Amino acid sequence: MTENQLREQMAELGKSLYDRGLAHGSAGNVSVRLPDGYLLTPTNSCLGRLDPARISRLDGNGKLLSGDAPSKEAFLHLNMYQERKTSAAVVHLHSLHAVAVSCLDGLDAQNVFPPITAYAIMQVGQLALVPYYAPGDMALAEAVRKVAGKHHAVLLANHGPVVAGTSLTSAVYAIEELEQTARLVLLLQGHPTRMLTPEQIADLNRRFPG
Ligand code: 13P
Repeated sequence: MTENQLREQMAELGKSLYDRGLAHGSAGNVSVRLPDGYLLTPTNSCLGRLDPARISRLDGNGKLLSGDAPSKEAFLHLNMYQERKTSAAVVHLHSLHAVAVSCLDGLDAQNVFPPITAYAIMQVGQLALVPYYAPGDMALAEAVRKVAGKHHAVLLANHGPVVAGTSLTSAVYAIEELEQTARLVLLLQGHPTRMLTPEQIADLNRRFPG
């Protein structure tokens, strides 16, 4: 895809997330990798009303080259790309159910979700929990860097999910699956639940690697 097509796609998918209530207000940010840098949504922008021409264009070190001032989470996005060479896009949301789970006590920091559905295993995998830091804090970006090599999906405690993908579409699909899984986990709380077995999980990982 050309840079202009990627800008259009960021606006189109941002509007889709916003229209379905997965993004609200100015919460969330989206980036894509370019051959020589990144496109990133501007700080305080609404994902539902992105102007493709004003999206921030960063060089490989995160320096703003053109467009509006970038998201305060720019270094979180950059750290994700640095640790995941095959990732082409990163999406961060404050989607309702994922944020609710991010506030729960006693989560497994290496694997937040219990193995309830095949698609959670296939698209989210082992969701890592990162401790709470203020939005935009470099310590938050560093905490994400520490887990990003092993996990393409990360949950920021008391904040929200971050997902990297091999394309913007696949990152969006995966964060939608993450939100859906969080909703299911909350719906099932207090209900005896049949989990997928380790054999079933291994079989999924064999059939659908990566
Ligand atoms: P920005 O508006 O700076 O992108 O921040 C929004 C957000 O979701 C912070 O985590």
